[in-house]
Amino acid sequence: VTRKVILDVDTGVDDAVAVILALRSPELEVLGITTVAGNVDVCSATRNTLHVLELLGRTDVPVCPGAGGPITPGSWSVGEMFHGAGGLGGVRVPEPSARPRGEHAVDFIRRAVREEAPGELTLITTAPMTNVALSLLIEPDLAERLAAIVSMGGAFGTTREGAGNSSPRAEFNVWFDPVAAKVVYGSGARVYAVGLDVTTRRDASISRETYDRLAESPDPVGRFVHSILGAYVEAVGYAPMHDPMAVASVIEPDLLTFELLPVDVEVCGELTRGETVADFREFDAEVPRRRPNVHVAVDVDGPGFLRLLLGRVASLA
Ligand code: RIB
Ligand code: CA
Repeated sequence: VTRKVILDVDTGVDDAVAVILALRSPELEVLGITTVAGNVDVCSATRNTLHVLELLGRTDVPVCPGAGGPITPGSWSVGEMFHGAGGLGGVRVPEPSARPRGEHAVDFIRRAVREEAPGELTLITTAPMTNVALSLLIEPDLAERLAAIVSMGGAFGTTREGAGNSSPRAEFNVWFDPVAAKVVYGSGARVYAVGLDVTTRRDASISRETYDRLAESPDPVGRFVHSILGAYVEAVGYAPMHDPMAVASVIEPDLLTFELLPVDVEVCGELTRGETVADFREFDAEVPRRRPNVHVAVDVDGPGFLRLLLGRVASLA
């Protein structure tokens, strides 16, 4: 059975790979893509997303621009450091001929959830959760109507890799808009969080060898993926596939192992803003825990994930 999904992205490099994986997977029906500020400004995220859709011959998929900045008060700047100038690894892309829809991301999400039967639509977020939080604040009933919100984000400390990237223990998508994450995690929606605990696992990342193989891919889209990963692999030596892993968890749920935990978000600590605080304490009457509200990914079948990803985005066995 195909799952109807909406992707919410800040296209960047791994978002672009996530979009390619989603659109090349028969298990998913992508109703639309909404964009938001994060890695890059929302206009660049929209342009980059439209470029990827043109590459795939899928300009039929609606793209609806959303929030230009976080809900969380305070100064902010986009995170281009890892995504290169323009957001696609420094690869200059021509102005796409496809245009975004006139409908705002929040209106698109609310309309799609209303038009689909309850439990039919899944939101997959691979960016700061500003659009999803705004949708939930305007229409709280979305939380119950959505099948699930599958979100790349957070660093839950369930594995050694579960440390932060934007700060010692905060992950970028949550760090960029912690209030939005707090709203989503507390909304009552069925939330599945695919955090750095699993996305930074080396056995689930594209190694330099695999990166080199991508250059020889028989598939022009595979070679595009090679081109946009270059900056990352040069800088870090390998390329974690954060966003594609969130998409893969909807395509093949068995690839990830989740644990339902109480999770809350620090929104204002000087050192701790954006930390996703998961409570592992054993529950007993002496230690009243908050309600378990987030399914946290604690393990991933790395090789299985990479086989799915490379087969779909680059036709590599
Ligand atoms: O921390 C990883 C996340 O931040 C990914 O979504 C990546 O695209 C960046 O947005
Ligand atoms: Ca992203």
